[in-house]
Amino acid sequence: MTKKKVRKLSNSPFRYPGGKFYARKLILPCIPKHHKYCEPFVGGGSIFFAKSNAKVNILNDKDSELVNTYIQIRDHVEDLIKLLDGIPASKELHRYYKLDYSPSNDLEKAMRWFYLNRTSYSGIMKQANCYWGYGEKYSMRPENWPKHLRTTSERLKSVQFLCLDFEEVIEYLDQGFFLFIDPPYFGADQDKFYSCSFNLEDHYRLNKVLEKNAAKFKFLITYDNVPQIREMYQWCTSIQDNQWNYTISRTDDQKNNRKLADGYKSNRYKGKEVFITNYDINEVSGVEPLAFTKQLSLF
Ligand SMILES: C[S@@+](CC[C@H](N)C(=O)[O-])C[C@H]1O[C@@H](n2cnc3c(N)ncnc32)[C@H](O)[C@@H]1O
Repeated sequence: MTKKKVRKLSNSPFRYPGGKFYARKLILPCIPKHHKYCEPFVGGGSIFFAKSNAKVNILNDKDSELVNTYIQIRDHVEDLIKLLDGIPASKELHRYYKLDYSPSNDLEKAMRWFYLNRTSYSGIMKQANCYWGYGEKYSMRPENWPKHLRTTSERLKSVQFLCLDFEEVIEYLDQGFFLFIDPPYFGADQDKFYSCSFNLEDHYRLNKVLEKNAAKFKFLITYDNVPQIREMYQWCTSIQDNQWNYTISRTDDQKNNRKLADGYKSNRYKGKEVFITNYDINEVSGVEPLAFTKQLSLF
């Protein structure tokens, strides 16, 4: 009997604000088959991790600490695991790594970033809003980090990382790429979440550089469903409304000062966005999601 080879789904190594994990089942069917793949705003890379690697994979983000952590996971995963070995998830250590620890090389920088990302509320890494947010019952435990890091390291072996402004990346690409583009939201206060700020001018700049290069590649961009965005992207082929459910606050809800210990449960929300493409979104057959294996906690 021949066994069907199951390709393993390895989720993002990170918790990431604004990540598209909960929308992946809606996004993957809208992606055309491709050999060259690029994400100019990779963040936690939920869509990259949900599908098979292409022949060429370029992942970019302007946040240099994030990109360094990806590179260390790809190239030095065992050294990173050694540095993390035996360090428990604790509020005191979270405070120490956030405020007092000074890393002396890129590996130590990655270890600090990874530790804080896994133990912070919603994975928010911007210093001013980076709070303790680990819950024994809901978060991935430190003893499970090595296995997860090793699987993601394998997935990253064929990836080229860039740490540039999106415009440079889009201009730099040659013909034939598929781009999954997930910029910071248009309407929300993104400065709370990300280390690099993104303003109105940047949203217009993105629109212009995509229009200028649209003949070079196919792209899908996800945005909040607001009239200004629909107007800005009128020149595209498809603009499709989408909504999905997602859950947050598996750990303490800092904003409303509610704690799981007080019996507070996770909240369910609805994501309402538009998927905008420069190809007919109804004519693509989509890409397959990778098979789920035993799921470790994502949070
Ligand atoms: C909405 S998040 C991407 C989330 C990602 N799709 C996921 O599933 O986790 C947007 C990302 O854009 C990055 N960013 C902000 N300004 C940028 C710029 N000018 N060029 C490239 N990346 C930028 C942020 O650091 C952040 O990681």
